[in-house]
Amino acid sequence: MEKISESVIKKDHAPKMSGRSVYVGDYSGDGVLTGKFLRSTLARAKVLGVEVPPLPDGYFYVDKADVPGDNNVNIVLDDTPVFARDTVEYIGEPIGMVVGPEEKVVDRILSETKVSYEELEPMLDLHKADTVFFNYEYEKGNLEKAFAEADKVYVEEFSTGYQDQTYLEPQGMMAEPEENGHMYVHGSMQCAYYVHGAVMRALGLRPDEVHILQDVTGGGFGGKEAFPSILGCQVAVAARKANAPIRCIFGRREDLEFTSKRHPSLCVYKVAVKDGKVTGMDIDVKFNSGAYTTLSPVVLQRGIICASGVYSFDNLHVHGRALKTNTTPSGAYRGFGAPQTFFAVEMMMNHIARDLGIDSLQFKEANLARQGDPTSTSGKYHFPIPLPEMINEVDRACDFRRKHLEYEKPQIGRYRKGIGMALWFHGAGFTGSGERDHIKAVCKLHKYPDGTVEVLASNGEIGQGLRTTFPKIVAHELNLPLEKVYYNHPDTARVPDSGPTVASRSLMVVGELLRRAAIKLRTQWIEGEDQIVEEHFREPDFMIPFYLDKFHGDAYPTYAWGVGAIEVELDTCTGISKILGAYGSFDVGTPIDYNIVIGQMEGGYLQGIGYASIEKMEYDNKGRIRNNSFSDYLIPTTKDVPNLKCMLHVEQYPDGPYGAKGAGELPLVGAPGAFVAAVEQAIGGKASLHHAPFTAEDTLNVMMKEAE
Ligand code: MTE
Ligand code: MOS
Repeated sequence: MEKISESVIKKDHAPKMSGRSVYVGDYSGDGVLTGKFLRSTLARAKVLGVEVPPLPDGYFYVDKADVPGDNNVNIVLDDTPVFARDTVEYIGEPIGMVVGPEEKVVDRILSETKVSYEELEPMLDLHKADTVFFNYEYEKGNLEKAFAEADKVYVEEFSTGYQDQTYLEPQGMMAEPEENGHMYVHGSMQCAYYVHGAVMRALGLRPDEVHILQDVTGGGFGGKEAFPSILGCQVAVAARKANAPIRCIFGRREDLEFTSKRHPSLCVYKVAVKDGKVTGMDIDVKFNSGAYTTLSPVVLQRGIICASGVYSFDNLHVHGRALKTNTTPSGAYRGFGAPQTFFAVEMMMNHIARDLGIDSLQFKEANLARQGDPTSTSGKYHFPIPLPEMINEVDRACDFRRKHLEYEKPQIGRYRKGIGMALWFHGAGFTGSGERDHIKAVCKLHKYPDGTVEVLASNGEIGQGLRTTFPKIVAHELNLPLEKVYYNHPDTARVPDSGPTVASRSLMVVGELLRRAAIKLRTQWIEGEDQIVEEHFREPDFMIPFYLDKFHGDAYPTYAWGVGAIEVELDTCTGISKILGAYGSFDVGTPIDYNIVIGQMEGGYLQGIGYASIEKMEYDNKGRIRNNSFSDYLIPTTKDVPNLKCMLHVEQYPDGPYGAKGAGELPLVGAPGAFVAAVEQAIGGKASLHHAPFTAEDTLNVMMKEAE
């Protein structure tokens, strides 16, 4: 193992274990007003009027009329309002906020506030949705010819549901007006500079008049990528009106119902096969955006780029649409559009193999992309693709090939077994030229006269270990003990914009900038001096330029790879598929800290298994989310997957720090393909499964049909 991979005690271990860490809910409440939302009770309506009861002293009602700047939250497009405009577009949309010193009084005021609506017909069905927020298309080769010459053409439809990030700490933000008209906003978030841009715009302030601090954050998983920009604007507008600090912390029910989740999807695959090889795919992808666009364009881009999986063939057409429905706006969740299409392509490949009478793994192996092959978007796999070795590692760990053949034979009795495997990748960093043209990361190192070094960057610790791994990289390069290098929570008043904490980019992209900054500092080091060095993003020169209008070029510089196998035992009386083991081999390059990376792999893989099996969230026929507590939205615990084995396969990436690649999202992405394939095999017969999550109830339904 490389020295940098040796595990250390995380820098935030002691304060978190002892309870000394200060989360946004832990600040003293003296003089701080509590804010709570007046929310729409209808999925689509004109708001005719709001009748607020007489307000006691010190209480305020805040809505769109109070927004001093622009009533649009700066995300990608300008359609998400800070407070609802004249119509409401989903159940739970914030119309206004009541703020005041006593929570009970705020609750009473809200319960006595009356909204009159003119109800409009909501759109709640993704199949029928016709408002297209984003429409992308790309192709290569000659698909018509591939279909004409195919031995056989297959068509299937796949769907996936919501998934909620269920971070331990719900959303929470606090805004504090400062003396000179400036605004200070802090709380639970992934992207301090996103909140900065949003609050500036909503309040109509200059960059220097707003500053944002990331407080200790109890997990994000994508759920705190864009949402804190919305909540940040709302508390800032309220704080401006009341001229007092405002804090708003969500309850779990509120968080589950009204904050962004993974986009539900609907994918249709049409695949041409000739001589046991895939020769072409025509893929149609639909994502349910919910009521506003938020991050849908970028989630959809990643989803359609991944739609053809880890396979290589010449003829491809992908059409992707993000559609509006009158539901809670969807958003980022670990994997960012990729888990949906990877599920579809992996199940599709299994089904084709079965029809051809070939073992599904053999069929996949025959179609794998190799180093030097073009990617879906006519970029290039510049680096080795270690999937064949990783497949063998997983096979050795769980005897996959033998079990997969054995469980294929007809099984009798109450308990039946199945095993499934999925193959996938994840490209770290912003899609295409995003890092170069849009993010343009800058980071700094500040060396103090006493010889300690502070990392200045805007990426946040959200459990993935950055407070430890960033200093580790710098300490390693400067040959300093780790205690001499530290990384505080980013405050936009003190740190440059090194970009958001998303897309598994921080460690790979910003970590490499820090390594280079540390080399610079080492060469310029003067004992006893106060010194600052700065480093700017440079795109690796091997990249094939990416054009978003044609989806052409390198979407990502490199890829992390994943192979997952899951073995289940199905109880045919209850429909429950008990997980006997989940095995994974993951290539995220050099681990910058072995324990942190294994923690990322295990946690992410487990989240993916939850997404595949029990995390079912739906809205009713009025558009209201039905699952709003941990008793009706279940997530897996370690007890559900006692035998979880994650292995690391290291294929170093020369442009990542010490060979590291983005790690955080990878392990989740392929889990649904492996789990649902295992359940399909356990059910046996002709059962062909097409959706995730695949629950015990779904299993019983299929078995009943099979028995007919
Ligand atoms: N791990 C923990 N413990 N908590 C989190 O919120 N977020 C995931 C992943 N791992 C998350 C996590 C998501 S969505 C992303 S994009 C990456 O971490 C961010 O990794 P990075 O710091 O390398 O950018
Ligand atoms: Mo991660 S979904 O990119 O925050």
